[in-house]
Amino acid sequence: MTKILCIGAGYVGGPTMAMIAKKNTNVQVTVVDINQQRIDAWNSDNLPIYEPGLDEVVNEARGRNLFFSTDVEKGIAEADIIFVSVNTPTKTFGHGAGCAADLQYWEKCARQILEVATSDKIVVEKSTLPVRTAAAMERILNSGRNGAHFDVLSNPEFLAEGTAIADLDNPDRILIGGHSTPEGKKAVQALVDVYAAWVPQEKIITTNLWSSELSKLTANAFLAQRVSSINSISALCEATEADVGEVAYAIGTDSRIGPKFLKASVGFGGSCFKKDILNLVYLCESYGLHEVAEYWRQVVKMNEYQERRFVDRMLKEMFNTIAGKRIALFGFAFKADTGDTRESPAILITRELLEENAEVVITDPQALKHAEQDLADVIDRVVFEPDPYKAAEGAHAVALLTEWKEYKELDYQKIFDRMAQPAFLFDGRNHLDHQELFGIGYNVYSIGKAPLKHI
Ligand code: UDX
Ligand code: UDX
Ligand code: ADP
Repeated sequence: MTKILCIGAGYVGGPTMAMIAKKNTNVQVTVVDINQQRIDAWNSDNLPIYEPGLDEVVNEARGRNLFFSTDVEKGIAEADIIFVSVNTPTKTFGHGAGCAADLQYWEKCARQILEVATSDKIVVEKSTLPVRTAAAMERILNSGRNGAHFDVLSNPEFLAEGTAIADLDNPDRILIGGHSTPEGKKAVQALVDVYAAWVPQEKIITTNLWSSELSKLTANAFLAQRVSSINSISALCEATEADVGEVAYAIGTDSRIGPKFLKASVGFGGSCFKKDILNLVYLCESYGLHEVAEYWRQVVKMNEYQERRFVDRMLKEMFNTIAGKRIALFGFAFKADTGDTRESPAILITRELLEENAEVVITDPQALKHAEQDLADVIDRVVFEPDPYKAAEGAHAVALLTEWKEYKELDYQKIFDRMAQPAFLFDGRNHLDHQELFGIGYNVYSIGKAPLKHI
């Protein structure tokens, strides 16, 4: 029986391994993490991450051929294939701070594998890493004297949060990078076989290691760039009375452009986009490609501009003062269907509102726990309220920041009746029915559209 180990039981490692175990009943999959609490949660009915459909997949495989444990060493010793899926955050110190990937967790992993392994292993980079990290990993792994041989592969994960299970079940493609030496090809084939259990062969792309590593960064950079591009146009729409939804639809019908990822918003968030672009920027700089670095840096700058612009607009439209005014934020997660708040635009928006001495009330169906952690330093100045009706009570404005389905279904007349007047609604996701809200009496502001104002 093939034994797979995954080091790192996070957003990527957990769901991916659960799917691999579900689809390969003849493979034993173990997920390890140094965080005992996380592993306990994976072994309970209360999984550490919220992801639609994940419970079913875990329940089917857990205890059969899917195991969660903190025994990293035992896992390494037994495994044939080791996925490394530990966190690679942006460095906060030293050279490349704020830009380069912090590879300390990842390198510790490589060293631990080397220390413990006594048989040959295939080591798979699952975490997003700078290009040529595999080379460093190979050098570390093959510096040992215990006779074990290591093949390093790159197999980036393209799942998006909130749709992880659907993305894993039916991926656009699986990308596997490896060396074209005979051992390299054998290792690639072993991993292809794991995915071929449910992914059609033509969707399994094999490339060299560096192309695979770079494709992950490039894919996220392109996706983020589309969001920044349409957001830049949304600012122009607000100035000209063009409608960004109409513009997005019109350009998206061009098959060369395509309709996806053209939804103007309050800004993109999530653990990947900003981090990966800054990583790309750092990589370009380190190769002396300053113009290329600048080109991609602008995508992040545009996103920050979009977040700030949202607050600026609130301030301006609410008579240039929001001091002492209660403002209800509907949604704190960086997108719907996830409890994740990493890099969520809501974080910066809350802080900017607090700078203006507004009274901020936050509601979200899944993300309140994380919101409390993100705002730990200002926690006594923010109210967290699971019930959106209560959150909006007495508020001067509601700002919708996450496109939760629940928020479409609220009784906005009831909310309006309990708000301070004149009532403002800022829709940061163009998620609600603006004409209906305007009919109720709200002053409605959306992204990239003319406002609907009574006053
Ligand atoms: C363009 C638009 O495609 C068309 O919709 C609009 O009406 C007019 O402008 P055109 O300039 O005729 O049309 O040619 P296009 O095929 O878009 O190519 C423009 C340039 O981009 C060419 O120099 C082409 O070689 C280059 N190009 C295009 C690339 O370098 N790479 C590509 O992948 C595509
Ligand atoms: C992303 C990539 O999509 C995924 O392939 C990669 O593996 C990890 O990074 P994720 O961050 O989970 O996934 O979510 P995604 O759906 O890409 O959304 C990212 C951010 O962009 C969200 O804040 C979302 O609200 C925003 N967004 C997305 C828009 O504002 N407009 C859009 O049209 C699409
Ligand atoms: P991602 O979104 O990439 O999955 P997460 O931060 O959600 O990232 O998950 C990474 C996980 O890796 C965390 O649970 C962390 O505890 C774990 N981790 C980090 N370093 C190690 C290590 N050396 N051994 C085992 N687990 C690790």
